[in-house]
Amino acid sequence: MTVAKRIDGKARAAALAASITEKTAALLKKHGIKPGLAVVIIGEDPASQVYVRNKKRTAESCGFHSVQHTLPKNAAESDVLKLIDELNNDTAIHGILVQLPLPDHLDEQAITQAITPSKDVDGFHFVNIGKLTAGHTSDAFVPCTPAGCMLMIEDELGRDLSGKNAVVIGRSNIVGKPMASLLLQANATVTVTHSRTKDLSKVVAGADIVVAAVGRPDMVKADWVKPGAVVIDVGINRVEKTVDGETKMVLTGDVDYDDVSKVAAAITPVPGGVGPMTITMLMANTLRSARLAAGLGA
Ligand code: GUN
Repeated sequence: MTVAKRIDGKARAAALAASITEKTAALLKKHGIKPGLAVVIIGEDPASQVYVRNKKRTAESCGFHSVQHTLPKNAAESDVLKLIDELNNDTAIHGILVQLPLPDHLDEQAITQAITPSKDVDGFHFVNIGKLTAGHTSDAFVPCTPAGCMLMIEDELGRDLSGKNAVVIGRSNIVGKPMASLLLQANATVTVTHSRTKDLSKVVAGADIVVAAVGRPDMVKADWVKPGAVVIDVGINRVEKTVDGETKMVLTGDVDYDDVSKVAAAITPVPGGVGPMTITMLMANTLRSARLAAGLGA
């Protein structure tokens, strides 16, 4: 029985963050520029609060100027748009992120599209989506989760995925669709699957690379996976599990880690895989934005 390599996202993210911190110090010393990240959170969603706190802490540890704007859950859309307009015009801010999901009364599209594309470090603006889809990644902001997944895939398989079959499970705008664009740009043959896909397990069985982003705990099993595949688990699900007779809430991915480890070549754990990489890619995008704003090149 083979045991897959456990891809340590936490260590990979820490190494990347160290390099970002070094580059940030050099940017300040040489050019007097400090990357600035503004995170906007609306309402009190507990998971969002944890994510935002982690983003702020990581930004500070990288040496960034970091600001957080907390708006009440009943904030008017006009107030959110006014804040975004101010941040768009604030030269100390290079990256703006509005944490999703938003309260129901707010129009997600109106808000994400109000962020100026050059500060859209989430990569959600249509200009950035268009550039990514067209293969213009040199000046696009790529959404952080798929960008982090791509780095981990490159670590295992190199930058050229010619001849590899990649299957993305999930077609969200945040993960599935941009992930497919990145894999395609790296010359993989890409299949995007979703809830209406027939015989999903058979489609996955042909994959050299599997990226699971559906939000269904432990869905992907060993008998779905081609021996030697690289498996990236984007899912983060809260489930009750009984361990030694004790029931507790645990985090689990979309992939049954213990089972799939028996056949895959490499696999990301949950937690400690994609999550830490996502936050660090946000820092990479913000540093890049600060350099581009100063005409320094990415
Ligand atoms: N909520 C969950 N993931 C994300 C993300 O990548 N960006 C933002 N803005 N909100 C999120």
